[in-house]
Amino acid sequence: MAQHSDGTGRWARGDTVHDNEDDEIDLQLHKAHSARMYDYYLGGMTNFAADREAAGQAIAVFPSARIAARANRAFMHRATRLLADRGIAQFLDIGTGIPTSPNLHEVAQGINSQARVLYTDNDPIVLAHAQALLLSSREGLTSYLQADVTDPAAILSSRELEQTIDLTAPVALSLIALLHFVPDDHGACRIVDQLKDALSPGSALVISHGTPDFGPADAERITQVYAAAGTEVRMRTREQIERFFDGWDLLDPGVSPTHRWRPEGAAEQEITDAQVSAYAAVAVKR
Ligand SMILES: C[S@@+](CC[C@H](N)C(=O)[O-])C[C@H]1O[C@@H](n2cnc3c(N)ncnc32)[C@H](O)[C@@H]1O
Repeated sequence: MAQHSDGTGRWARGDTVHDNEDDEIDLQLHKAHSARMYDYYLGGMTNFAADREAAGQAIAVFPSARIAARANRAFMHRATRLLADRGIAQFLDIGTGIPTSPNLHEVAQGINSQARVLYTDNDPIVLAHAQALLLSSREGLTSYLQADVTDPAAILSSRELEQTIDLTAPVALSLIALLHFVPDDHGACRIVDQLKDALSPGSALVISHGTPDFGPADAERITQVYAAAGTEVRMRTREQIERFFDGWDLLDPGVSPTHRWRPEGAAEQEITDAQVSAYAAVAVKR
């Protein structure tokens, strides 16, 4: 569990959390982190001075960062609803982020109260918040694993996965706004292929991913802001993102800007492709 070093109940420099193996992890609040920067774009409260400074620089070069983050969340909600409606009852969400309601398990379990969800992220502050959040998850089964997507074998062989997910039945695997934090093209494809191979027919792959296609100069500038904050980012073209779905059947409308993937409301119609600068898609394994 989390340890607050200042005794106030608020996070402070020097705070630690314990992972699944009960090892202590330093939250490194003095450094910007992508999960906390994203939390700032979404108007959350789990961000600190270093995150806000880096996120402010990102917004300075890409003023629609908040619109893009909200459009991305809305895509996650639509894709999760669709897959739960199609009968998928197991969800593996890697790169979960700091909980922001409605979270994926709330959407899935709102449709199927028995849905099982395993969340995974490599940021210890996500772990700390997930530990608190999961205590409040009453229905279905919701678990959390502290892990890095660059080691898919560790995720697939984890005790948490074994206890939550039955790999012989369909699983919705979501890698939402995650893979652009895996800079190596070859490595990213290998990770996705390894995860896909472990899933059974009827499973689904849900991806959203930043792209330079609608504003190469903006993409370059935002990549530099993240690099200066210590996070390597790799924006990918539509063609490169399509590659992640190879061999699976893309659901309509295929790889599309996030806000144009099965939009449901008027809000999406006012957004431009350049404002989101990200693609999204869902594919199913035959
Ligand atoms: C932009 S947030 C997206 C959160 C959520 N998926 C969503 O779309 O709303 C990216 C998340 O990926 C996590 N992340 C980045 N690199 C990761 C890695 N190598 N392994 C696991 N998680 C990672 C970050 O900690 C962060 O929580």
